[in-house]
Amino acid sequence: MRYLAYFLLLCAFFSCQNSYQEFKQLEGEKAMLVSAHPIASLAGKKVLKAGGNAIDAAVAVHFMLAVVYPEAGNIGGGGFMIFRPAQGPVQSLDFRETAPALAYRDMYLDSLGQANDSLSRLGALSVGVPGSVAGLFEAHQKYGKLPWAKLIAPAIEVAEKGYILSASAAKRLNEKLPEMRKVNRYQMPFMQKESWAAGDRIVQKELAQTLKRIQKEGRDGFYKGETAALFLAEMQAAGGLIQAEDLDNYQPKWRSPIQFNYKNKYTVYSMPPPSSGGIALAQLLQMVEDYPLKQMGFQSTRAVHLMVEAERRVYSDRAKHLGDTDFYPVPMEALTDKAYAKNRMRSFSYQKASPSQEIQAGQPKKVAEETTHYSIVDEAGNAVSITTTLNGNFGSKLMVQGAGFFLNNEMDDFSAKPGHPNMFGLLGSQANAIAPKKRMLSSMTPTIVDKDGELFMVLGSPGGSTIITSVFQVLLNVIEFEQDLPSAVQAPRFHHQWLPDQIYIEEGAIPESEQQQLKKMGHQFKLREPIGRVDAIIRLPNGKWQGAADQRGNDSAAGY
Ligand code: DON
Repeated sequence: MRYLAYFLLLCAFFSCQNSYQEFKQLEGEKAMLVSAHPIASLAGKKVLKAGGNAIDAAVAVHFMLAVVYPEAGNIGGGGFMIFRPAQGPVQSLDFRETAPALAYRDMYLDSLGQANDSLSRLGALSVGVPGSVAGLFEAHQKYGKLPWAKLIAPAIEVAEKGYILSASAAKRLNEKLPEMRKVNRYQMPFMQKESWAAGDRIVQKELAQTLKRIQKEGRDGFYKGETAALFLAEMQAAGGLIQAEDLDNYQPKWRSPIQFNYKNKYTVYSMPPPSSGGIALAQLLQMVEDYPLKQMGFQSTRAVHLMVEAERRVYSDRAKHLGDTDFYPVPMEALTDKAYAKNRMRSFSYQKASPSQEIQAGQPKKVAEETTHYSIVDEAGNAVSITTTLNGNFGSKLMVQGAGFFLNNEMDDFSAKPGHPNMFGLLGSQANAIAPKKRMLSSMTPTIVDKDGELFMVLGSPGGSTIITSVFQVLLNVIEFEQDLPSAVQAPRFHHQWLPDQIYIEEGAIPESEQQQLKKMGHQFKLREPIGRVDAIIRLPNGKWQGAADQRGNDSAAGY
């Protein structure tokens, strides 16, 4: 009986340790942070409270997400950061994956020239050279205040003790178990049950060891030594292309952010290539800037039509012109020029939809869209906006045996063949063709907005091709439709990406009567899974920070 009591007490203790509350909306006088998991948000908050800055908090959040949100949080993937220091110019850091040196343009085509999607999406051949650890380490070397080792410690602890699955996390994991079983040759932690349920605990001992090596040796703890050896052994065993030189040579890159102004009041900073996010967002906002959106009204026929027509034009430009600027001459200035945007809208008619050019386009399959975004503002007013990903849910599903982390399937973001859609139905061309060491085009759109020269908003989203339009809508919801941030984030969204020529809508987006009008104008609709998962921060008129965490996931704000 006594033992039973002890046992129950112990269980209660552990479930307390792991019970967490999601804060969907929170205000703080000094600092704010929003991420995809409450444990990660709390880890970041502790760092800020201990005197760390936004970059320190980003390191803590990133490594914690790699443990508690393995769908997208990662060390085996890559991402992008926009950093707005309290003083000095805004910077962007590209830690996107690269193609291995052995990659080649037609590597996913069969003997008949047909693209084999499973090769670019599942298992060893789909893996790009990861950039996350190098990126976070680089940012921390340059701007961090607290010791690196201290920032990673909480993630190690949770990896060792385990984290508890939420109902939605268990569901996502169960959906991917068959693919995990297909590509992994051993019983890694996520395969230890036939089926997972809310409340189950996952312990990741091998990941904890890898994190300890990164804690001790910094970037070398990942790209060299034991972790690299395990990584390369996995590549050999599973048939991947990544070699030791690929790991050694990986470099994150500081790049000038895309910067543009909206209505002479807002300055928007977002990610340049190899993400399409910043250019596309600049084009979208500049295309709608001269129209009276506010009078048209939130999700009115006219507003939806205008936004969709802008989106159609922007995504067709994306397919043709965008790729890694280190390999392809992307006409960045021309594309982000205001005059170009206005000119592109000259064919816009209030009366009818302009049909997207008829070329072969894929129906984006229902894909789990598991990138993740976190936004941070610290006490000194430094702001960080980071979107990071493994691409698909749990990436390639391949875990490095002995090292305990999932590898990305980012190679699918290249255009395997002109006219052949990727996992998100996006088309590409020469600009985004596969080449050794090249970075694959992304849609990730980490963004920071100033208003009248002061930091105003920090935001971003997962969602593959819908990332750009999610950020676009939340910005317009706040700036034009005058919604408060939580409403702007939670409002149902819609999305058009040129091809397929249809408006994707979430349940509840665009009233039925407006949809009827839009159909008469030539638009078509398709209901789909949630679009994006925006985690954002805004400065309120009273000077406080407000965090808004998307209710589409377990996202949560933390601040003080
Ligand atoms: O970089 C990109 O655009 C994609 N790899 C992002 C994938 C994604 O957003 C998946 N889920 N939310």
